[in-house]
Amino acid sequence: MEDDTRDFDREAASWDENPERVKLAKDIAGTIAREIRLEPVMDVLDFGCGTGLLTLELQPSVRSITGVDSSRGMLDVLNGKIGKQNLANVKTLCFDPDRGDDLPGRYDLVVSSMALHHVRETQPLLNLFHRIINPSGYLCIADLDPDGGQFHSDNEGVFHFGFDRVKLRQSLIEAGFSEVRDKSAGGVMKYVVGEGLQLFTVFLMTGRR
Ligand SMILES: C[S@@+](CC[C@H](N)C(=O)[O-])C[C@H]1O[C@@H](n2cnc3c(N)ncnc32)[C@H](O)[C@@H]1O
Repeated sequence: MEDDTRDFDREAASWDENPERVKLAKDIAGTIAREIRLEPVMDVLDFGCGTGLLTLELQPSVRSITGVDSSRGMLDVLNGKIGKQNLANVKTLCFDPDRGDDLPGRYDLVVSSMALHHVRETQPLLNLFHRIINPSGYLCIADLDPDGGQFHSDNEGVFHFGFDRVKLRQSLIEAGFSEVRDKSAGGVMKYVVGEGLQLFTVFLMTGRR
């Protein structure tokens, strides 16, 4: 079978060396904190957590946070940080919705940063998020506005060239979320061959269970 997934395991060790990524995670965490009230009683899940850039920004404000990702390499890096910082409230779980994996547990908040565009079928995942979020809990998804396929230098494992906010809003509503709204959360400057330096904008879409 053709393997069209991206090798995030290989990228894991140097993932945090990109300052734009680190800044984006901080900007997204700040936008989440402005959009919803983070509370010390909240159990949170970070889908596509990678090395935990967003996970660890949110960790001090909540009771627990579980980082889930399909890349063991990414989770190894996050587990290293958890061990080094002796964080008792951060867990990791290897999970891939495209493999049909299920997600155990229930959460007050599900967040995701720059991962949804790597998921082939997004509607079943949004439906799953709705099932695992407690009543009155929140979903916060940060991802690219439509990027014309230019954000990634290699589009292997990229199933969506950003998201049209109106269509994604509809998908959240179809999954059962209410109070769906979106905000601009940040951006990434990247050099695109033949185009020069381009700004790729990132939204945060929020829904309530
Ligand atoms: C662009 S990275 C973002 C990582 C992190 N959220 C951040 O902001 O730095 C996308 C992450 O999603 C994970 N991912 C991609 N496809 C996935 C899938 N189908 N299921 C779970 N995780 C996935 C990758 O392994 C990777 O860690």
